[in-house]
Amino acid sequence: MGKVYYVSQNVGLGLLVLAVSALATIIALSIAYDKEKAKNQGKPGDGAADSTSMPTPSTTQFTPKEPWDYYRLPGSLVPVSYDVTLWPRLEPNKDGLYIFTGNSSVVFRCVEETDLIIIHSNKLNLTTFNGHHAKLSGLGEATAPTIKKSWLVVKTEYLVVQLSNRLAVGATYVLHTEFLGELADNLEGFYRSEYVEDGVKKVVATSQMQATYARKTFPCFDEPAMKALFNIIIIHNQGTVALSNGREIDSVIEGVPVKVTTFEPTERMSTYLLAFIVSDFVSIQSNQNNNLLIRIWARKKAIDDRQGEYALNVTGPILQFYERYYNAAYPLSKSDQVALPDFNAGAMENWGLVTYRETALLYDPVLSSTGNKERVTSVISHELAHMWFGNLVTLKWWNDLWLNEGFASYVEYLGADYAEPTWNMKDQIVLYDMQKVFAVDALASSHPLSRKEDEVNEPAQISEMFNTISYSKTISFKFLTPPFPCKFISALSLQAYLNTFAFGNTVYTDLWDHLQQVKIFIPDSVHNIMNRWTLQMGFPVVTIDTRTGRITQKHFLLDPDSVVDRPSQFNYTWFVPIKWMKSGMEQQQYWLLQKTVSGDGWVLANTNVSGYFRVNYDPDNWNRLLSLLNTSDSVYLHVEDLFPLYRAKIINTTLALRTTKYLSKERDYIPWESALRNLDYYILMFDRTEVYGALQAYLKKQIQPLFEHFKTITANWTKIPQGHTDQYNQINAIGIACSMGVKGCRELIKSWYRQWMENPVHNPILANLKSTVYCSAIAFGGVEEWDFAWTMFQNATLASEASRLRSAMACTKVPWLLNRYLEYTLDPTKIRKQDATSTVQYIARNVVGMPLAWNFVRARWSYIFQQYGKGSFSFSNLISGITRRFSTEFELQELKKFKEDNVHVGFGSATLALEQSIEKTTANIKWVTENKASVLKWFTEEST
Ligand SMILES: *[C@@H]1O[C@H](CO)[C@@H](O)[C@H](O)[C@H]1NC(C)=O
Ligand SMILES: *[C@@H]1O[C@H](CO)[C@@H](O)[C@H](O)[C@H]1NC(C)=O
Ligand SMILES: *[C@@H]1O[C@H](CO)[C@@H](O)[C@H](O)[C@H]1NC(C)=O
Ligand SMILES: *[C@@H]1O[C@H](CO)[C@@H](O)[C@H](O)[C@H]1NC(C)=O
Ligand SMILES: *[C@@H]1O[C@H](CO)[C@@H](O)[C@H](O)[C@H]1NC(C)=O
Ligand SMILES: [Zn+2]
Repeated sequence: MGKVYYVSQNVGLGLLVLAVSALATIIALSIAYDKEKAKNQGKPGDGAADSTSMPTPSTTQFTPKEPWDYYRLPGSLVPVSYDVTLWPRLEPNKDGLYIFTGNSSVVFRCVEETDLIIIHSNKLNLTTFNGHHAKLSGLGEATAPTIKKSWLVVKTEYLVVQLSNRLAVGATYVLHTEFLGELADNLEGFYRSEYVEDGVKKVVATSQMQATYARKTFPCFDEPAMKALFNIIIIHNQGTVALSNGREIDSVIEGVPVKVTTFEPTERMSTYLLAFIVSDFVSIQSNQNNNLLIRIWARKKAIDDRQGEYALNVTGPILQFYERYYNAAYPLSKSDQVALPDFNAGAMENWGLVTYRETALLYDPVLSSTGNKERVTSVISHELAHMWFGNLVTLKWWNDLWLNEGFASYVEYLGADYAEPTWNMKDQIVLYDMQKVFAVDALASSHPLSRKEDEVNEPAQISEMFNTISYSKTISFKFLTPPFPCKFISALSLQAYLNTFAFGNTVYTDLWDHLQQVKIFIPDSVHNIMNRWTLQMGFPVVTIDTRTGRITQKHFLLDPDSVVDRPSQFNYTWFVPIKWMKSGMEQQQYWLLQKTVSGDGWVLANTNVSGYFRVNYDPDNWNRLLSLLNTSDSVYLHVEDLFPLYRAKIINTTLALRTTKYLSKERDYIPWESALRNLDYYILMFDRTEVYGALQAYLKKQIQPLFEHFKTITANWTKIPQGHTDQYNQINAIGIACSMGVKGCRELIKSWYRQWMENPVHNPILANLKSTVYCSAIAFGGVEEWDFAWTMFQNATLASEASRLRSAMACTKVPWLLNRYLEYTLDPTKIRKQDATSTVQYIARNVVGMPLAWNFVRARWSYIFQQYGKGSFSFSNLISGITRRFSTEFELQELKKFKEDNVHVGFGSATLALEQSIEKTTANIKWVTENKASVLKWFTEEST
């Protein structure tokens, strides 16, 4: 699945979350040792290593007794193929309900004697035959036993069929069901999306099966390893088009209004990758890739406005790139990508029918920003990477999700780089993924990348796997990108892996085995090296003392006083591959503890931040590095380590803040963005205190020259800067300058927005600047500015435009507007369900909105939980988003009380996020108490 991107759009780019795969990691790693490049990573062994299991918060204290009490299928039956017919109704029935009907015949083989058929089925009304929910017949020689009784188990989401006799091992049977389900607007399973075009309401039937929603569409063996062939038929109205994983092979008109579309049989695949769509969407297509049919589907208006063209342009090249990279042809006969008005995740890699949020697929050459374009490229690249890694070869169970997502999140950026080579996408990996995962993984309540299979059972536990650690930690082992000749070798082992397991399932150790076959010198086996990175949580801080030459490692914890109650068989030590330089000269890379370094020149380790660890030095070396700041940008990324080290009390001065002093002379994006992200913590901790005045004065002083710089090079803001990242930095310059009160900024923004309000059909604001300008103008304005944005939001025909307006409306400082906006999030006719939780988060980012959002969520927790609690990313982000500023004892108590008060409701996929919020708040309180005075003093002195 694609991530949902909530990085504030005001920051401009926001978007990319790349993740490097462990695979790549290890590949790189191995090579690195040989060649002098590498980083850290980890990966669990073969199940033997398990001391780091994660205590999964259990929502129930229930002891399973019967086979249907278990969340996992017994495995005695395996599916071979399904014939599924579905008929979604795009008009409500007489009770006002939208429904679908269908039938399914699953051919399955018995591999273990049993008199029970246990198959997933959730929220389906099954037709009964002689009082039973299904019909059973034998195939070939087999005669089917009669059905004794059948029933539904709501908790574990099963249909259970009890037979009068046992099924014979090796024999094949057919289970037939007929059913009716609701085509709800809840974004899961087979669901309904609505939009208005030319004043007419349109209804789309679409689907999201990952992770456990195929069972809401038809009874099926709904586990990723239960691969089968699917023969799909969809019944739909004339004037609509039906899509599924396979290519349409036949469409006949039957009766007056109805068409029956038959699809070519799928390859052997997992249920979570199925997709069904009925809509009146239109498409554009190309056949450039060897007759492979590539289509982009969207609302007619969007296609007419040519919003699908960019996606079509990059899809062919990206597929070609992966065909070469994996050395395997695209496995299917077509590639459809569809932009949906309502969609929960960012995108979903259904095999052959990839679904997206509109903002992740559609791009308007005039109205969209550079950041929007980059997002489209990287999301497409991510999803297409899954067509092989994930879809062709699939992990056996959800506990290994990290390998699937981590790998895709890594190669996503190779594919995007191929499509847009001038963007230097690789530079952004540090900024986006690594910083993000470092933040979470530095908590004592983090968890190992890998979990044991039996720790992930219930749907909410599966959803919880879709978190930052899974997506971004693996990518953070990014030392990959090995030197060319070695890349060839490691690509071979990846190709062998895909080849061996095509159309099947694997566990992550299978990949290690393949990588181990590459003969390179590493200090231990691939398994042993990787285990330390994947079976134990966290990462090390490596301390280099250039005076003594000693190098040591230690588990890095944001709050050094926090208690790690999760033991690790590796004692929280890692094999750390260190790449380093001395006085500007690259040195041979080595594995931690094998060597010492010393000398008079400066030492810089973890060059290009290739490894997943923090580095600390003795004070002299730090000072030497700080003095290099004015001369070398790349040093910036390294002294950046000072911020977390300071927060973790490993260094105890305001050394970290000193790194920002030279910024008044800096014009480049990466150092600025990195500094702003670090300063963001100071803003969050102090924007409700007297420190904020001094901080603002300081930042104003620092940003002013950048603001003037862009004013000059853009000829008074009329031109677009040339470089890709310069465009992003211009957004930073304006956004920060306005919020820090740089003279002229506010007037500029207001006049632009005013011009637009006076003539709504002509928006004079440059696309790249829109997010920032909208937000600032609404923050400086009142109800008039807000209501104008609301009108433009409702009329927007480009999803990314609607999306930035939605984010900007959260910037107002007027409490009643914020409260009204919060209420709108509960009304799907105002804010789409897919956007509800992110809108609440945007409001919470605003210092005025934060307490309002917190009250709002607490007051309606059970409703919100029931609506969104099973979702993935977005839901757990809700809690972490709202509590980001929490830094007082009072807020901690509120948070704990919230936890107590809602135990009976539960926290679903936000369970871990809640624990982490409590831990972070505790650390924040301590940090603020200890540092407030010195930070105030520093900003005060430096701002004059
Ligand atoms: C399924 O059956 C139940 C009980 O008869 C009924 O309340 C529900 O509305 C039905 N579902 C649909 C989608 O018709
Ligand atoms: C897509 O490619 C065509 C042909 O190269 C080009 O003319 C067009 O501008 C591209 N569209 C976008 C949105 O990049
Ligand atoms: C971890 O520490 C224990 C006790 O000090 C020691 O016996 C064990 O060998 C260590 N394990 C590793 C992997 O270093
Ligand atoms: C922290 O400050 C104390 C006292 O000022 C000093 O002794 C100690 O060396 C400092 N620690 C670090 C890591 O700078
Ligand atoms: C920018 O605006 C200022 C004042 O409005 C004017 O003096 C200056 O010539 C303008 N510069 C450009 C390049 O248009
Ligand atoms: Zn993915």
